[in-house]
Amino acid sequence: MISITNGIYTLASIYYVIIPIGYLTKWWFTEKEMAGKGLVLVTGGAGYVGSHTIIELLNSNYSVVAIDNLVNCYAEKNQKPESLKRVEKITGKQIVFYNVDIRDKLALEKVFKTHKIDFVIHFAALKAVGESVQIPLMYYQNNIAGSSTLFQVMSDFSVKKLVFSSSATVYGTPQYLPITEEHITGQGCTNPYGKTKYFVEEILKDVCTSDKEWQVILLRYFNPVGAHESGLIGENPSGIPNNLMPYISQVAVGRRDCLKIFGDDYETPDGTGVRDYIHITDLASGHLKALHKFKDPSFVGWKAYNLGTGKGCSVLEMVKAFEKASGRKIKYEIVERRDGDVAASYADPSLANIELDWVAHKSIHDMCADTWNWQVNNPKGFEQS
Ligand code: NAD
Ligand code: UD1
Repeated sequence: MISITNGIYTLASIYYVIIPIGYLTKWWFTEKEMAGKGLVLVTGGAGYVGSHTIIELLNSNYSVVAIDNLVNCYAEKNQKPESLKRVEKITGKQIVFYNVDIRDKLALEKVFKTHKIDFVIHFAALKAVGESVQIPLMYYQNNIAGSSTLFQVMSDFSVKKLVFSSSATVYGTPQYLPITEEHITGQGCTNPYGKTKYFVEEILKDVCTSDKEWQVILLRYFNPVGAHESGLIGENPSGIPNNLMPYISQVAVGRRDCLKIFGDDYETPDGTGVRDYIHITDLASGHLKALHKFKDPSFVGWKAYNLGTGKGCSVLEMVKAFEKASGRKIKYEIVERRDGDVAASYADPSLANIELDWVAHKSIHDMCADTWNWQVNNPKGFEQS
C-alpha cells in the first residue's frame, strides 16, 4: 500500500514539479539565448535583401525570426527556403522561420505571441515594376494592405521600432543631383510599385504622428547589386530579369544571348543611363546601423536615409566592369529607351554617413566579381539544389 502511495507521489511530483521546472528552465534559456542584442522579426526574410541582412544580424549577435510567404523565393515542399538554409550554412546559426503572409493578421499575431520581438525589419513586398503596371491591385493589396496589417499587429503588441525597405523610386524624376532626403517624394512615381513605397512611407509618418512611442527608419535604397562573398546566396530573379546586373550576369553565363541597352542618347557622359549601384553587403549593414539608432532616446518619430554610394555608374561602364571581373565578353545592342527610365539617379548618402555612422565600402569591381562568383556557382540560381 505504502509503495503504491509512494509511486503516486513520485508520478505526481514528476508531473507537477519536475516537468514544469523543465519547461521553465527551457523557456528561461531560450529567452536568454534569444536575448543577445535583441530579437528581430524580418519580413520577406527569404528574399534577396532579407537573406543578406540576416547574415549581418546573426553575425552581430542579434536573434532572428524570419517570415515569408515564399511568393518570390525558392523552397522545396515543407522545407525552409533554400536561401535561409544557406544563410544557416554561412553563419553556423539556426533561423526560426515561418511561412506567413503579412496580410494574414491571425498568423502574424501567433508569431508575436510566440516570440518577444524587439524590432521589425520589413522587406516583404512585391517588387516588379512592369508587373505592377499589369496587376496594380495585387501590388496595393500586398504591399500596402499587408504593411498596414503588420503595423497594426506591431502596435497591438507594443513593438514600435521599425526599419522599412523603401526605395529611391519615391523621388520620381530627380529634380537635382545628387539626391538628398529633402528631395520631394511621391511626385513622378510613374508605376504602382513605386507608389506603394511612397504610400507606405506616408502611412508610417501618420502612425508616428499619432503615437509618439514609434521609432521608424525609412531606408531609401538606390540600386542594390552583388552577392555574398561566399557565392552561396545572391539575387535569384524568376523569369527574364528586369534589372541590369542580373541580366548582364545571365548573358555572361550563357543563359541569355544579348543585353539590350535601353537608350544611348541620354544627357550623360556616354549617353547610357547612370545609376548609383550599391553592394548588397553594404546595404545589409545599413540595416544594422539603423537598429543602433533606436538606442538613441532622443530619436522619436520617423527619419529617412539614402543608402547609396554617392557615385554614378553608366550602363556601358557596368558592362565593361563585368567583362573585366568575369573574363567574359558581354554581347549587347542598343535599343529604344525604356518607358519610365530617368537619365541619371544617384544619392547624397551623407546623412546616413553622419547620423548612422554608415558608409558603403565596396567598389563596382567588388559588385561585379561577387555577382559573377554567385552566378557561375549557381547558374540556375537556388533551383538547381
Ligand atoms: P525579394 O522579392 O527578393 O524579397 C521579398 C520577399 O518578400 C520575397 O522572398 C517574397 O516571397 C516575400 N513576400 C512578398 N510578399 C509577401 C507577403 N505578402 N507576405 C510575406 N512575404 C512576402 O525582393 P528584395 O530585392 O529582397 O527586396 C526587399 C525589399 O526591398 C522590398 O520591399 C523591395 O521593394 C525593396 N527594394 C528592393 C530593391 C532592389 O533592387 N532589390 C530596391 C529598392 C527597394
Ligand atoms: C528599376 C526600377 C525601380 C526599382 C529598381 C529596383 C524601372 C523604371 N525602375 O530601377 O523602380 O526600384 O529597378 O532595383 O523599372 N538597363 C538596360 N538594360 C536592361 C536593364 C536595365 O539598359 O536590360 C538600364 C536601365 O535603362 C537603367 C539601368 O540599366 O539605365 C539600371 O536599370 P535597372 O537595373 O532596371 O534599375 P532602375 O531603372 O534604376
